[in-house]
Amino acid sequence: MPKILVTGAFGQIGSELVNSLQNKFGTDSVIATDIHLPKNFVGNAEILDVCDAEKYRQFVVDNKIDTIYHLASLLSVGGEANPDLAWTLNLGSLKTMLDIARDHKIKCFWPSSIAAFGKTSLYDPTPQHNILEPTTIYGVTKVAGELLCQYYFLKYGVDVRSVRYPGIIQYKGDVGNGTTEYAIAIFYDALKTGKFECFLKPDAKLPMMFIDDAIAATIGIMEASADAIEIRTSYNLSAISFSPEKLVQEIRKNIALKVKYKPDHHQTIADTWPKTIDDSEARKDWGWKNTVDLPKLVNIMLKEVSEKIGVNDGKK
Ligand code: SER
Repeated sequence: MPKILVTGAFGQIGSELVNSLQNKFGTDSVIATDIHLPKNFVGNAEILDVCDAEKYRQFVVDNKIDTIYHLASLLSVGGEANPDLAWTLNLGSLKTMLDIARDHKIKCFWPSSIAAFGKTSLYDPTPQHNILEPTTIYGVTKVAGELLCQYYFLKYGVDVRSVRYPGIIQYKGDVGNGTTEYAIAIFYDALKTGKFECFLKPDAKLPMMFIDDAIAATIGIMEASADAIEIRTSYNLSAISFSPEKLVQEIRKNIALKVKYKPDHHQTIADTWPKTIDDSEARKDWGWKNTVDLPKLVNIMLKEVSEKIGVNDGKK
């Protein structure tokens, strides 16, 4: 059985990934770490600040870890609010993780993002090998991080794998401080108040993905044979692209919802990101495929968020 460490385990992706890894490998095989722990978690959970390099290394050694999913990160909006922390957390802790992986022969996963692209990138669909000149600190850490992963693979043979996640739609974790996160917040506001104020324009189409597909991709790339992983920066990954107005239309098929559009600094970030992604390399190299479309995503989110916050899902 592998001995798996997940950092940032109670964030957007970790909250679901830990559960899937526990189901797959057994609860004792997984240690979930974060800077805060939830009360009702079942399994091994410990506080770990990945910015403390020595503690991170000692933790890995003490627990005989052989696989790391290094998810601890600020998102785009959180990064703009604190660029220094974004640099230290998103990139500094990745360097620490890669050093530990090199020294202890650990297989590892690190997430990149559509934020690696920028206004000068080739778009629609956005090719794998592209101009990467992002203008957010989040995007800068993703591009630098991708190159650092590839460097550690080429120079030291570190088996590090990565995908460029689109906006992830999930219900277990909190709503994150990002740009695509409007598409999560909308479900909470719609169910609680029947109203939503959107910080993007109605036609701001962005690449998105339901959490189940994101988890399948994450575990899928980690299970592929090392020879199949041709790209050691980060793979483009795509599922569905939608705009706020398209999402609102789909939600209104289920419940009543009033929406006001007030585009702000979030729109400035969205303007630099792609609308659609060409992920043919991931499909070819390690068999990636998505399964959840927009109607299904909306149905699941309405059901799960209404249960979580204890309101009726208001089905017409
Ligand atoms: N969801 C992220 C953000 O908006 C994109 O990687 O910041």
